[in-house]
Amino acid sequence: MGGRRPVAVVVGATGGIGRAVVELFARDHTLWLAGRDETALKTMASTLPEAFCWQLDLSGDEGVPLEPPQDLGEVDVLLHCAGAFEQGTVLDMSERRWREVFAVNLFGVVELTRLLLPGLRRTRGRVIVVNSTVVTRSPAGRSAYAASKQALRVFTEALHQEELNHGVRVTSIYPGRVATEMQRTVRRREGGPFEPERYLAPATVAKAVRAVLAAPADAHLTEFVLEPTWRR
Ligand SMILES: NC(=O)c1ccc[n+]([C@@H]2O[C@H](COP(=O)([O-])OP(=O)(O)OC[C@H]3O[C@@H](n4cnc5c(N)ncnc54)[C@H](OP(=O)(O)O)[C@@H]3O)[C@@H](O)[C@H]2O)c1
Repeated sequence: MGGRRPVAVVVGATGGIGRAVVELFARDHTLWLAGRDETALKTMASTLPEAFCWQLDLSGDEGVPLEPPQDLGEVDVLLHCAGAFEQGTVLDMSERRWREVFAVNLFGVVELTRLLLPGLRRTRGRVIVVNSTVVTRSPAGRSAYAASKQALRVFTEALHQEELNHGVRVTSIYPGRVATEMQRTVRRREGGPFEPERYLAPATVAKAVRAVLAAPADAHLTEFVLEPTWRR
Protein backbone atom coordinates (compact mmCIF):
# COMPACT_ATOMS: atom_id res chain seq x y z
CA MET A 1 0.00 0.00 0.00
CA GLY A 2 3.08 2.21 -0.05
CA GLY A 3 3.44 5.33 2.09
CA ARG A 4 0.08 6.86 1.22
CA ARG A 5 -3.00 6.62 3.39
CA PRO A 6 -4.90 3.44 2.37
CA VAL A 7 -8.25 4.01 0.65
CA ALA A 8 -11.27 1.96 1.75
CA VAL A 9 -14.71 1.90 0.14
CA VAL A 10 -17.36 0.98 2.71
CA VAL A 11 -20.63 -0.08 1.08
CA GLY A 12 -23.53 0.24 3.53
CA ALA A 13 -21.63 2.84 5.55
CA THR A 14 -24.82 4.09 7.21
CA GLY A 15 -25.74 0.65 8.62
CA GLY A 16 -24.89 -0.69 12.07
CA ILE A 17 -21.85 -2.69 11.00
CA GLY A 18 -20.81 -0.25 8.26
CA ARG A 19 -20.84 2.68 10.68
CA ALA A 20 -18.74 0.75 13.21
CA VAL A 21 -16.20 -0.05 10.49
CA VAL A 22 -16.10 3.60 9.45
CA GLU A 23 -15.52 4.70 13.06
CA LEU A 24 -12.67 2.23 13.50
CA PHE A 25 -10.98 2.98 10.18
CA ALA A 26 -11.41 6.77 10.04
CA ARG A 27 -8.16 7.44 11.88
CA ASP A 28 -5.84 5.78 9.39
CA HIS A 29 -7.81 5.38 6.15
CA THR A 30 -9.23 7.63 3.48
CA LEU A 31 -12.85 6.51 3.39
CA TRP A 32 -15.44 6.42 0.64
CA LEU A 33 -18.83 6.08 2.27
CA ALA A 34 -21.18 4.30 -0.14
CA GLY A 35 -24.92 4.08 0.43
CA ARG A 36 -28.32 5.26 -0.66
CA ASP A 37 -29.00 8.00 1.91
CA GLU A 38 -26.99 10.97 0.67
CA THR A 39 -27.87 13.23 3.60
CA ALA A 40 -26.81 10.61 6.14
CA LEU A 41 -23.59 9.97 4.22
CA LYS A 42 -22.73 13.67 4.08
CA THR A 43 -23.43 14.11 7.78
CA MET A 44 -21.14 11.18 8.58
CA ALA A 45 -18.39 12.38 6.25
CA SER A 46 -18.44 15.85 7.79
CA THR A 47 -17.34 14.38 11.15
CA LEU A 48 -14.41 12.39 9.73
CA PRO A 49 -10.84 13.47 8.95
CA GLU A 50 -10.81 12.24 5.31
CA ALA A 51 -14.05 10.90 3.92
CA PHE A 52 -16.04 11.21 0.69
CA CYS A 53 -19.55 10.14 -0.31
CA TRP A 54 -20.70 7.77 -3.03
CA GLN A 55 -24.47 7.74 -3.35
CA LEU A 56 -25.87 4.50 -4.80
CA ASP A 57 -29.02 2.45 -4.39
CA LEU A 58 -28.35 -1.23 -4.92
CA SER A 59 -32.00 -2.10 -5.47
CA GLY A 60 -32.98 1.05 -7.37
CA ASP A 61 -34.16 1.08 -10.97
CA GLU A 62 -30.78 2.27 -12.18
CA GLY A 63 -28.86 -0.44 -10.31
CA VAL A 64 -25.17 -0.12 -9.55
CA PRO A 65 -23.44 2.81 -11.31
CA LEU A 66 -21.46 1.88 -14.41
CA GLU A 67 -18.49 3.97 -13.33
CA PRO A 68 -16.94 4.81 -9.97
CA PRO A 69 -16.85 8.47 -8.87
CA GLN A 70 -14.32 10.40 -10.96
CA ASP A 71 -12.02 11.28 -8.08
CA LEU A 72 -12.05 7.84 -6.44
CA GLY A 73 -8.43 7.03 -7.32
CA GLU A 74 -6.79 3.78 -6.29
CA VAL A 75 -8.69 1.58 -3.83
CA ASP A 76 -6.99 -0.71 -1.32
CA VAL A 77 -9.99 -2.17 0.48
CA LEU A 78 -13.53 -2.85 -0.69
CA LEU A 79 -15.82 -3.63 2.21
CA HIS A 80 -19.31 -4.95 1.56
CA CYS A 81 -21.49 -4.13 4.60
CA ALA A 82 -24.85 -3.42 2.92
CA GLY A 83 -27.59 -5.99 3.30
CA ALA A 84 -31.33 -6.49 3.05
CA PHE A 85 -33.33 -8.78 5.31
CA GLU A 86 -36.78 -10.09 4.42
CA GLN A 87 -39.00 -12.45 6.32
CA GLY A 88 -41.79 -14.35 4.61
CA THR A 89 -42.76 -17.88 3.69
CA VAL A 90 -42.22 -19.21 0.20
CA LEU A 91 -45.97 -18.95 -0.29
CA ASP A 92 -46.12 -15.31 0.78
CA MET A 93 -42.95 -13.75 -0.64
CA SER A 94 -43.49 -12.02 -3.97
CA GLU A 95 -41.01 -12.22 -6.82
CA ARG A 96 -40.41 -8.48 -6.42
CA ARG A 97 -39.24 -8.94 -2.82
CA TRP A 98 -37.00 -11.86 -3.84
CA ARG A 99 -35.44 -9.63 -6.48
CA GLU A 100 -34.88 -6.77 -4.01
CA VAL A 101 -33.11 -9.06 -1.52
CA PHE A 102 -30.90 -10.50 -4.25
CA ALA A 103 -30.23 -7.02 -5.68
CA VAL A 104 -28.73 -5.83 -2.39
CA ASN A 105 -27.20 -9.04 -1.01
CA LEU A 106 -25.78 -10.49 -4.21
CA PHE A 107 -26.00 -8.49 -7.44
CA GLY A 108 -24.86 -5.25 -5.79
CA VAL A 109 -21.82 -7.03 -4.34
CA VAL A 110 -21.04 -8.62 -7.70
CA GLU A 111 -21.36 -5.39 -9.70
CA LEU A 112 -19.45 -3.14 -7.33
CA THR A 113 -16.70 -5.74 -7.08
CA ARG A 114 -16.49 -5.95 -10.89
CA LEU A 115 -16.32 -2.18 -11.08
CA LEU A 116 -13.43 -1.86 -8.63
CA LEU A 117 -11.54 -5.10 -9.32
CA PRO A 118 -9.09 -3.75 -11.94
CA GLY A 119 -7.95 -1.08 -9.47
CA LEU A 120 -7.82 -3.59 -6.60
CA ARG A 121 -5.52 -5.76 -8.70
CA ARG A 122 -3.19 -2.78 -9.16
CA THR A 123 -2.98 -2.13 -5.41
CA ARG A 124 -3.00 -5.88 -4.55
CA GLY A 125 -5.98 -4.90 -2.46
CA ARG A 126 -8.56 -6.63 -0.31
CA VAL A 127 -12.24 -7.47 -0.67
CA ILE A 128 -14.14 -8.16 2.54
CA VAL A 129 -17.70 -9.41 2.36
CA VAL A 130 -19.96 -9.41 5.41
CA ASN A 131 -22.04 -12.57 5.04
CA SER A 132 -23.98 -14.33 7.83
CA THR A 133 -24.05 -17.58 9.80
CA VAL A 134 -27.47 -18.08 8.21
CA VAL A 135 -25.50 -19.91 5.46
CA THR A 136 -25.25 -22.90 7.81
CA ARG A 137 -29.01 -23.40 7.99
CA SER A 138 -32.24 -22.58 6.16
CA PRO A 139 -34.66 -21.19 8.73
CA ALA A 140 -38.39 -21.26 7.94
CA GLY A 141 -39.52 -17.87 6.66
CA ARG A 142 -36.03 -16.78 5.59
CA SER A 143 -35.71 -18.46 2.21
CA ALA A 144 -34.85 -15.30 0.27
CA TYR A 145 -32.34 -13.98 2.82
CA ALA A 146 -30.68 -17.38 3.36
CA ALA A 147 -30.59 -18.16 -0.38
CA SER A 148 -29.03 -14.78 -1.16
CA LYS A 149 -26.35 -15.30 1.49
CA GLN A 150 -25.63 -18.85 0.24
CA ALA A 151 -25.24 -17.45 -3.26
CA LEU A 152 -23.01 -14.72 -1.85
CA ARG A 153 -20.82 -17.36 -0.20
CA VAL A 154 -20.40 -19.23 -3.47
CA PHE A 155 -19.66 -15.99 -5.34
CA THR A 156 -17.06 -14.95 -2.76
CA GLU A 157 -15.35 -18.34 -2.85
CA ALA A 158 -15.15 -18.21 -6.67
CA LEU A 159 -13.81 -14.64 -6.51
CA HIS A 160 -11.16 -15.79 -4.03
CA GLN A 161 -10.07 -18.60 -6.37
CA GLU A 162 -10.00 -16.30 -9.40
CA GLU A 163 -7.99 -13.58 -7.69
CA LEU A 164 -5.33 -15.85 -6.15
CA ASN A 165 -3.02 -15.13 -9.08
CA HIS A 166 -3.82 -11.40 -9.17
CA GLY A 167 -2.82 -10.57 -5.60
CA VAL A 168 -6.30 -9.59 -4.39
CA ARG A 169 -7.15 -11.24 -1.09
CA VAL A 170 -10.86 -11.99 -0.56
CA THR A 171 -12.44 -12.71 2.82
CA SER A 172 -15.94 -13.62 3.98
CA ILE A 173 -16.95 -12.71 7.52
CA TYR A 174 -19.84 -14.70 8.95
CA PRO A 175 -21.31 -13.03 12.05
CA GLY A 176 -24.11 -14.43 14.17
CA ARG A 177 -26.60 -11.93 15.62
CA VAL A 178 -25.28 -8.37 15.71
CA ALA A 179 -26.97 -5.54 17.66
CA THR A 180 -28.12 -3.40 14.71
CA GLU A 181 -31.38 -2.21 13.17
CA MET A 182 -31.46 -5.34 11.03
CA GLN A 183 -31.39 -7.53 14.13
CA ARG A 184 -34.14 -5.40 15.65
CA THR A 185 -36.26 -6.28 12.60
CA VAL A 186 -35.30 -9.96 12.85
CA ARG A 187 -36.35 -10.11 16.51
CA ARG A 188 -39.60 -8.28 15.79
CA ARG A 189 -40.43 -10.88 13.13
CA GLU A 190 -39.43 -13.68 15.53
CA GLY A 191 -41.77 -12.18 18.13
CA GLY A 192 -38.97 -11.84 20.70
CA PRO A 193 -37.35 -8.90 22.51
CA PHE A 194 -34.31 -7.08 21.12
CA GLU A 195 -31.53 -7.89 23.62
CA PRO A 196 -28.36 -6.20 22.36
CA GLU A 197 -26.29 -7.43 25.32
CA ARG A 198 -26.78 -10.97 23.98
CA TYR A 199 -25.58 -10.18 20.48
CA LEU A 200 -22.27 -9.18 18.95
CA ALA A 201 -21.59 -5.45 19.13
CA PRO A 202 -21.14 -3.86 15.68
CA ALA A 203 -17.74 -2.65 16.91
CA THR A 204 -16.73 -6.29 17.44
CA VAL A 205 -17.44 -7.07 13.79
CA ALA A 206 -15.39 -4.00 12.86
CA LYS A 207 -12.51 -5.39 14.94
CA ALA A 208 -12.79 -8.66 13.02
CA VAL A 209 -12.44 -6.67 9.79
CA ARG A 210 -9.37 -5.00 11.27
CA ALA A 211 -7.93 -8.41 12.23
CA VAL A 212 -8.49 -9.72 8.70
CA LEU A 213 -6.65 -6.74 7.22
CA ALA A 214 -3.81 -7.17 9.72
CA ALA A 215 -3.00 -10.67 8.42
CA PRO A 216 0.64 -10.84 7.29
CA ALA A 217 1.28 -10.76 3.53
CA ASP A 218 1.93 -14.52 3.42
CA ALA A 219 -1.46 -15.31 5.03
CA HIS A 220 -4.86 -15.33 3.45
CA LEU A 221 -7.69 -15.34 5.96
CA THR A 222 -10.46 -16.57 3.68
CA GLU A 223 -13.27 -17.10 6.19
CA PHE A 224 -13.98 -15.63 9.61
CA VAL A 225 -16.89 -16.99 11.68
CA LEU A 226 -17.91 -14.81 14.61
CA GLU A 227 -20.57 -16.02 17.07
CA PRO A 228 -21.81 -14.19 20.18
CA THR A 229 -20.65 -15.86 23.39
CA TRP A 230 -24.16 -15.84 24.89
CA ARG A 231 -26.08 -19.12 24.59
CA ARG A 232 -29.68 -19.95 25.41
N1 LIG B 1 -27.40 -7.63 12.24
C1 LIG B 1 -27.16 -8.92 12.25
O1 LIG B 1 -27.57 -9.65 13.17
C2 LIG B 1 -26.37 -9.54 11.13
C3 LIG B 1 -25.92 -10.87 11.30
C4 LIG B 1 -25.19 -11.46 10.30
C5 LIG B 1 -24.91 -10.77 9.14
N2 LIG B 1 -25.37 -9.50 8.99
C6 LIG B 1 -25.06 -8.83 7.73
O2 LIG B 1 -24.29 -7.68 7.99
C7 LIG B 1 -24.49 -6.72 6.95
C8 LIG B 1 -24.80 -5.37 7.58
O3 LIG B 1 -26.01 -5.49 8.30
P1 LIG B 1 -26.36 -4.56 9.57
O4 LIG B 1 -26.66 -5.47 10.68
O5 LIG B 1 -25.34 -3.49 9.71
O6 LIG B 1 -27.75 -3.98 9.05
P2 LIG B 1 -28.33 -2.49 8.98
O7 LIG B 1 -27.94 -1.72 10.18
O8 LIG B 1 -29.76 -2.67 8.66
O9 LIG B 1 -27.55 -1.87 7.72
C9 LIG B 1 -27.81 -2.30 6.42
C10 LIG B 1 -27.08 -1.39 5.47
O10 LIG B 1 -27.39 -1.80 4.12
C11 LIG B 1 -27.82 -0.63 3.40
N3 LIG B 1 -28.76 -0.94 2.33
C12 LIG B 1 -29.90 -1.64 2.42
N4 LIG B 1 -30.53 -1.65 1.23
C13 LIG B 1 -29.75 -0.93 0.38
C14 LIG B 1 -29.86 -0.55 -0.98
N5 LIG B 1 -30.90 -0.90 -1.72
N6 LIG B 1 -28.87 0.19 -1.52
C15 LIG B 1 -27.80 0.58 -0.79
N7 LIG B 1 -27.65 0.26 0.51
C16 LIG B 1 -28.61 -0.48 1.09
C17 LIG B 1 -28.51 0.23 4.46
O11 LIG B 1 -28.68 1.55 3.99
P3 LIG B 1 -29.69 2.57 4.74
O12 LIG B 1 -28.94 3.08 5.95
O13 LIG B 1 -29.91 3.62 3.71
O14 LIG B 1 -30.92 1.80 5.09
C18 LIG B 1 -27.52 0.09 5.59
O15 LIG B 1 -26.41 0.91 5.37
C19 LIG B 1 -25.62 -7.28 6.08
O16 LIG B 1 -25.07 -7.91 4.94
C20 LIG B 1 -26.27 -8.31 6.97
O17 LIG B 1 -26.89 -9.33 6.22
C21 LIG B 1 -26.08 -8.86 9.96
